Amino acid sequence: MQRALRAGMLVEELETPLLIVDLEIMERNLAHMMSILEGSGVKLRPHLKTAKSPAIAQIMIQAGAVGICCAKLSEAEVMANAGITDILLTSEVAGAGKYERLVALAARLPDFKAVVDSTHAIESIAAVARERGVTVKLMIELDVHTGRSGQVTPGGVLELADLIRATDSIDLAGIHAYAGHAQVKPAESRRDLNEPAMEILSETVELLREHNHPVPILSGGGTGSVRIDVETGILNEVQAGSFLLLDTAYRDAGVEFENALTCLSTIISRPTPERAVCDAGLKTLSRDGGSPEVTGRTGVTYLRGSDEHGSLTVEPDALETDLNVGDVIAILPSHICTTINLHDVMAGVRNGVVETVWPVETRGHIW
Ligand SMILES: Cc1ncc(COP(=O)(O)O)c(C=O)c1O
Repeated sequence: MQRALRAGMLVEELETPLLIVDLEIMERNLAHMMSILEGSGVKLRPHLKTAKSPAIAQIMIQAGAVGICCAKLSEAEVMANAGITDILLTSEVAGAGKYERLVALAARLPDFKAVVDSTHAIESIAAVARERGVTVKLMIELDVHTGRSGQVTPGGVLELADLIRATDSIDLAGIHAYAGHAQVKPAESRRDLNEPAMEILSETVELLREHNHPVPILSGGGTGSVRIDVETGILNEVQAGSFLLLDTAYRDAGVEFENALTCLSTIISRPTPERAVCDAGLKTLSRDGGSPEVTGRTGVTYLRGSDEHGSLTVEPDALETDLNVGDVIAILPSHICTTINLHDVMAGVRNGVVETVWPVETRGHIW
């Protein structure tokens, strides 16, 4: 069943719940990002695990992004099918089918790059690549104190770089160094956490260069660290993704971008003067980043979501907001990466009119 949603519709005609993008704000965010990077030698390689749409990826590429990042092979496959050629897969892969698919993607896209942090992955990718007569570009992941994947010492990265050099059918393209712990944090902590992260990265780069390993690409960073990354001047690519549409978690961290994404939701029940229920529950708005936020209605708070219902509290002195069954409210998601993944479509809106409808094509592409 196709929902009634097309360009030219007025916002008042839209069925809810629905994610809408304020196109003017999105364009401002993109222009602001490009102005931060301008003349710095740091390129934008936005992470599409957030917006999950090839059309949105193309908008950023047209604005000057060098390519994109994807978190999963299936995401990268969709982006490749849509004509995007320079893709960096930022999560390691392993297990049934994965190395074959990874090499198949590299065979289609000469600029494709994949992150690795183990001898297992390097040897397995090389074995498949050799069989197919392909050379695959690899980025070694360094854990810059994020505590997720990646080699934890410069020496560990060097060992893998030596292995890549000694193995045919694979090339070292650079280092992946994403300081995830330094992103959704208050400004001062972002700076304090990013500094040691970039120190271990420069130590690693120095060590690799001493051993004659070229490391042309140094990729990492996100929405929270981009300005610091430009000032520090070690990374030459930033992988920011959230900046384009933003969420309340990032807004509360004080980043210099604006919220462009809201969820339209309709009040479906008004059980008491202090309570209202809307049609955006957990299947519409994620809660891992905290509570979503009702915007433009003072005194109305998103209290909790159950599967299909959003429970709102209405403060007594806000009763004049006149919240009635059938009213449409706007809600800011707390974490857009996990929220967008719940939706099939997003509508791009300008001056109250739908200008474009984006399918969220990599929704659920987790394999
Ligand atoms: C490897 C990697 N790079 C970049 C990003 C994008 O960062 P942000 O959403 O903070 O812009 C993420 C987000 O989780 C990530 O995991």
